[in-house]
Order: sequence, then C-alpha cells, then structure tokens
Amino acid sequence: MLVFYCALSTCSNFKGYYVIRFDAVIHFAGLKAVGESVSKPLLYHDNNIVGTITLLEVMAAHGCKNLVFSSSATVYGWPKKVPCTEEFPLSAVNPYGRTKLFIEEICRDLRNSDSQWKIILLRYFNPVGAHPSGLIGEDPRGTPNNLMPFVQQVAVGRRQALTVFGKDYSTKDGTGVRDYIHVVDLADGHIAALKKLSDPKIGCDVYNLGTGKGTSVLEMVTAFEKASGKKIPLQIAGRRPGDAEVVYASIKKAETELKWKAKYGIEEMCKDQWNWASKNPFGYGSLESKK
Ligand code: UFG
Repeated sequence: MLVFYCALSTCSNFKGYYVIRFDAVIHFAGLKAVGESVSKPLLYHDNNIVGTITLLEVMAAHGCKNLVFSSSATVYGWPKKVPCTEEFPLSAVNPYGRTKLFIEEICRDLRNSDSQWKIILLRYFNPVGAHPSGLIGEDPRGTPNNLMPFVQQVAVGRRQALTVFGKDYSTKDGTGVRDYIHVVDLADGHIAALKKLSDPKIGCDVYNLGTGKGTSVLEMVTAFEKASGKKIPLQIAGRRPGDAEVVYASIKKAETELKWKAKYGIEEMCKDQWNWASKNPFGYGSLESKK
C-alpha cells in the first residue's frame, strides 16, 4: 500500500501570515493487491475511488487543479498485442484494476467539466528495485504477491523457494514476460509529468511508464542471482489465474512528449534491490516484528 499524497506547495508572506498554496498534487496513494481486491472489493472501491474523489474535491476547494495520478498497465487488461500503446482499448479483470480504470474515467469527466483541470495519468508497468542508497525499498506485509519482493525474501532466507506461475506460455522460456522498470526511473517520470503540466496543451493525458522491453520470470531470477550471488530455488507451478502472457509498454509517447526515458536495465534493478534487501533483510522491521 502506498500511503500518502504528495503535494507541491509554495509559501508567501501575506499580512504576517504564511499562506500555503499548492501548485500540484501527485496522487500515488492506493491499495494494490489484486487478490485482496477480489476478496474485499468494497475496501478497494472505498479506499481508491472514494479517496480520490475526496482528494479531487479538496484540491478544487483550494483552487489547485493540477494532478499527476498513478494509474497502471492493469487498465490494458489482457492485451491482444504488444507493445501496449496509450490508445489501446481499456478493460479491467479484477476490482483493483477497475478502481484504476474508474479513476481514469473520473479524471476525464472532471477535465471535460472544467478546462482549468490539467491531469496526467501515468500507467506504471512493473516497478522494481530500490533506492541506490539501500535506505528505501519495498516491504510488503505478509506473503508478497509480486515477483521481485518474493525473490528477495528467498534470497535472504525468509522463504524457501520461488513458485514460478506457469512455464507453458508461448514465450522465450515458457514463463510470463513483463516490462520491469526501476523505481528511480519511475520517480523521474513523475518529475517529467509535473513539468509537462505547465504545457497549455495538456487536458487529461495518459503516458506509459515502462522501458519498452519484455523480460521473462526466469530472466529476472537469473539477473537477481547474478546481482546477489544467491541461488534462488524454483518450484514450477501452474499459471496464476488472471495473469497475461506478455505485457510491455510502447514508450514513444513518454519519450516524445515528456522527454523522459528509463535509464536503468534489469542489472541495476536487481543490484539496487539486493543492496536494500541485504541491508534490511526484514524490511523496515525486525525479525520479531515479522513473526
Ligand atoms: N510471478 C511468479 N511467481 C510469483 C509472483 C509472480 O512466477 O511469486 C510471475 C507472474 O506470473 C508474472 C510475473 O511474475 O508472470 C510478474 O508478476 P507480478 O505479480 O510481479 O506483476 P503483475 O504483472 O502480475 O502485476 C503488476 C502489478 C499490478 C499491475 C500490473 C500491471 O503488481 O499492480 O503489474 O500490468 F496492475
């Protein structure tokens, strides 16, 4: 779960008081576990959608109508072809995905109703890695849903083996292919989007944030083994329900219009993730707090 809204503000001294004016908001708060969204749909619709509406109302009340929103490649559903361009038809295959899709539509409706709004929807592909300092990284609660947090927990000895969901896909090695993007590149993409909000042509616009490259599960595991020097034992299992075969981004629009391009490859993603994991094998807590 990402737990905060980020707001950019400027301060000015007015009759002895400090008046804080928010210029723009980056909204990356939301629940994001697909499985949990299936068992607790109301929680997801309430937290993600109602939370966003509340934020938009508060922004309007304060005259701040510039927004960057974290959407997701999940809105492409199971893409019929790759790379996914921003014009692809949209669909959702679970309640989590539906919240992202609905919020995108709410943002489009809002902009149609009031041209003062400037909104950029960023469709994230698969963010991985950690800050190179090793001080900030991902620390999911309970059993990780996503590939790399799970691999990381195997590497530090918290879990015995990685379950590979499916080895019978029509891909290079039979495992699922995704577009992994370093979290630092992703963060830079938000800065590029904030700058773009000052472009008068922006209404409610969408950009993919990915690398444009597809990497299989086994390729990611091999890259992580190389970065960490640890062997990751594998258990091959059946396909995970709802998983697409191959998903990766078309990055042309972000490159041309945001002047942004991912700099890092899977080697850097794995190196920085291992740096975080080896320094913080139990994430932000202690061994006791994780029992
Ligand atoms: N995988 C495994 N074993 C695991 C976890 C994942 O083999 O324990 C495989 C999956 O089957 C898939 C790949 O690793 O082929 C990536 O799976 P993730 O769960 O890491 O990521 P997803 O592509 O399923 O989902 C991610 C985000 C979603 C987002 C979606 C957008 O987690 O929030 O990308 O496409 F919606």
